[in-house]
Amino acid sequence: MQEAQTPYQLLGEQGIRELTSAFYDIMDSLPEAAGVRAMHASDLAPMKEKLAEYLIGWMGGPPLYADKYGTVCMTTPHEHYHIGPEERDQWLLCMDKALERIGASEDLIKMLSVPMFRIADAVRNREGPSAAAANPNIIAAG
Ligand code: HEM
Repeated sequence: MQEAQTPYQLLGEQGIRELTSAFYDIMDSLPEAAGVRAMHASDLAPMKEKLAEYLIGWMGGPPLYADKYGTVCMTTPHEHYHIGPEERDQWLLCMDKALERIGASEDLIKMLSVPMFRIADAVRNREGPSAAAANPNIIAAG
């Protein structure tokens, strides 16, 4: 029987770096992802590096993010942002398109779909849209 391969074995460190680079380039240009793009700083280069380090460990490679920052918990770095189902889905849409852009195999896409949804949903910290998004008369975003 063929031994199961991790996403890290399938993509390699370079492939995961290409994935995260494509992910933020897509977030930067896709109109449907404008909401999550606006939450980030104008320079996405530091995020490309951090997400690559994170995903290299998460996908079964060396724990670069954990070694550098001492944790893999994603709740704390996201707690100041309003992340409801819409923001989660915008993030996941960018990831789907990034996988497509780097030419990920059907097998890899299938292998990642449930865990990617789970980790994005774990980062979600709200049930619904922000008050400002739901009502344009409210100025403060919550
Ligand atoms: C679900 C929707 C998500 C949204 C809207 C979101 C948004 C954000 C934002 C606004 C930041 C701060 C960026 C900055 O400092 O400029 C951030 C940081 C980060 N996010 Fe997300 N994120 C999401 C999901 C995820 C997921 C699923 C992962 C991991 C698989 C992830 C990994 C990271 C990492 C590694 C950082 C950097 C944390 C640090 O400062 O060390 N994010 N995210």
